[in-house]
Amino acid sequence: MKILVVGNGGREHTLCWKLAQSPQADKIYCAPGNAGIATVAECVDIAVSELEKLADFAASEGIDFTVVGPEAPLCAGIVDVFRKRGLKIFGPDKKAARLEGSKDYAKRFMFKYNIPTARAAAFDNAADAAEYVRNEFAGGAAGIVIKADGLAAGKGVCVAPDKAKALDFVKSCFAGAFGGAGSKVLVEECLFGEEASILAFTDGKTIVPLVSSQDHKRAYDGDQGPNTGGMGAYSPAPVIDKAMTARVKTEILDNFLRGIQQEKLDFHGLVFIGIMVTGAGPKVLEFNVRFGDPEVQAVMRRFEGDLLDTMLKTVDERLKEAVLKWSDEPSVCVVMASGGYPESYEKGYEISGLDEAAATGAIVFHAGTSGRDGKVLNSGGRVLGVTARGSDIKEAVEKAYKAVEKISWQDCFCRKDIGYRALAREK
Ligand code: AMP
Ligand code: GLY
Repeated sequence: MKILVVGNGGREHTLCWKLAQSPQADKIYCAPGNAGIATVAECVDIAVSELEKLADFAASEGIDFTVVGPEAPLCAGIVDVFRKRGLKIFGPDKKAARLEGSKDYAKRFMFKYNIPTARAAAFDNAADAAEYVRNEFAGGAAGIVIKADGLAAGKGVCVAPDKAKALDFVKSCFAGAFGGAGSKVLVEECLFGEEASILAFTDGKTIVPLVSSQDHKRAYDGDQGPNTGGMGAYSPAPVIDKAMTARVKTEILDNFLRGIQQEKLDFHGLVFIGIMVTGAGPKVLEFNVRFGDPEVQAVMRRFEGDLLDTMLKTVDERLKEAVLKWSDEPSVCVVMASGGYPESYEKGYEISGLDEAAATGAIVFHAGTSGRDGKVLNSGGRVLGVTARGSDIKEAVEKAYKAVEKISWQDCFCRKDIGYRALAREK
C-alpha cells in the first residue's frame, strides 16, 4: 500500500516510523515532512493547509490511505475533501472535529453526555464574561480558567490565579489576541490534581484506549515558565492505575462513544482526551481529535501491534477485530527545543551528535528540523523528541538523557526533570 502522512512534527515522524514497520506498507509519503521523516518517507512539498493540493497528490500518486497528524487540517475539513473524491483517510470529518475546534461545542457535548468536566459558561462579549469572573471570585473561587473558543495553537488558555489576571485575559481575547478564536470565550472552574493523556481509537462502534501517558506542558523544570506544545512525555502514567482506568472507561470513554453515536458524528480516527485526576475522580479538560505530541512518541515506542492495520480497521469500522499489543516496558520522550522557545528563537544552526544519540539505542524523532547539504538544522521551536524504553521509568529516563547528552546545537535546551512525577511514585 501507498500511505500519505500529513504534517511535519515529531508526531508525524513517529507515525511514519511506526507505519513503515507494517508489512502492508510499501511506500510512505509525508507532506511536508522534515529531515528525520525523510529517512523513512518521501517528503512532498505541500503544506498541511493545502487540502485540495493534498487530495490532488493522493489521487494522482495512487495513495491508498492517508493519515492526518495536526488538528488544523482536520478542523478545516480535510476528511470531507478526501472522502468526496473517494480517497481513504483516517480522522474525524469537519463536523466531528469541532470537538477540538470549539471548546464551547466540546463542553456542551460533555454536559449532554454526562462526561465529568469542570463547570463552565460561554460568553460572546467581554462585559458578561467579566461579570461572571467577578462573581466566581466573590463566591470564593481559588482560581479560574479562561479559554478562547477556537484553535489557538495551545496559547488560548489562561489558568488565572486571581481576578486581575482573569479579567486581563478576557479583555485580550475580545481585543483579538487570538483572532476569531477569541470572539467567544469559555470561563471554567479551576480543577486541581494531576493531568494525564488518554488516547483512544474509535470507529464509531467501538472505542479502544491506548496505554496512558503524561505530558509536561511548561517550558522549564519544576513545571515553571510558559506553556508549550509539550516538553516531554512518558508512558504509562502511574496516576492512571487499575481503578482509574476502569473509571476512565465507564465515565468518559463509554459516554464519549454514546455521544458521537447519538450526535451522528463521523469519527473514524483517534481521540486524545486530556484529563485531570482530581479528588472527585477523572475530569475531562479537553478533547483533541488527533494524536498528542509528544505523547505519541512515548506511546508508540511501546506499541508492538501493526499501526497501519489498526488504522485501516478503524476506518473500515472493524476496530473490534484489532489487536493492540504493548510492551510492558515504560517509555520516556525528552523534547529538545531551540533557545527562546516558546517565544522567538533562532533557526538554521547545525545539529550535531544525532548518530551518536541513535547508537545508544534511543530513537530520535524529529520535529522542527530541515536538511541542507547533508546537515541537519533546527528549523522550529520543538526540534527533537529523544525517546527510550527501559525496565522501569528510572531506566527509561536515564537512557533518554544519555542520548540527549550526545546532541547539541547553539542555544538548545531541554527540561532535565521529565518523568519526575512517575519517578517519585516508583520510589
Ligand atoms: P486545554 O487546551 O483545554 O487542555 O488547556 C490547556 C491546559 O490548561 C491544560 O493542559 C491544563 O494544564 C490547563 N487547564 C485547562 N482547563 C483547566 C481547568 N479547568 N482547571 C485547571 N487547569 C486547566
Ligand atoms: N501534547 C499536547 C498536545 O499535543 O496537544
